[in-house]
Amino acid sequence: MREYPCPQVPAAWSTGAEEVSHGCRRYAIPQLVADLKQIVARSADEHAILAGVRPLVRRAALSAAGWLDKRIYEVHPDVGYGVYLLHEEPDHTLAVLAVSWLPQHGIQAHDHGTWAVVAGVDGPERNVFYERIDDRSRPGYAELGKIGEKVFGVGDVIAMPAGTIPSVWNDTDALTVSLHVYDKHIDHTGRSQFDPDARTESPFIVPVMS
Ligand SMILES: [Fe+2]
Repeated sequence: MREYPCPQVPAAWSTGAEEVSHGCRRYAIPQLVADLKQIVARSADEHAILAGVRPLVRRAALSAAGWLDKRIYEVHPDVGYGVYLLHEEPDHTLAVLAVSWLPQHGIQAHDHGTWAVVAGVDGPERNVFYERIDDRSRPGYAELGKIGEKVFGVGDVIAMPAGTIPSVWNDTDALTVSLHVYDKHIDHTGRSQFDPDARTESPFIVPVMS
């Protein structure tokens, strides 16, 4: 892996998150994107891509002092989370997003319509994973079964093939932040959200903060 100069971060942006970033602090988002491009150019195999992307997203998460600024700690008041676009290609591929979550807030079950790699940046988040157990024959109808759960903290990574259905929840009393990398921006994949109790599936677009 190449070495990059340590990014200069204005003191006013300090969030305290860098105090727990004990890994490499020399990995900024432009370098992450350059390395992502090499990986997706090397192979079209999703398993190989996820294996290559996983350590990069962990490294970027542990280098949060280089890109995490205070605006990312502001959530959209209507939904209780904040989605910040850090990068996407002109065709919406290679989307890098920072997502912040209010305490005791989260997002219901959803898919991404693309592969996803998520790493903890500030605080633990709980992911519950589901599978479809209906035959997908009825538009708008979906039955989900819970298949797993994982709480991931700073520097922990979850690599999700396309088709994975997680929900996310911040169980803590503080705002949490995670770093998300997708093969394509999730507002451009035609993905779905699910209500496991009502057994519904509907289109899912997230409000992206600027
Ligand atoms: Fe997600």
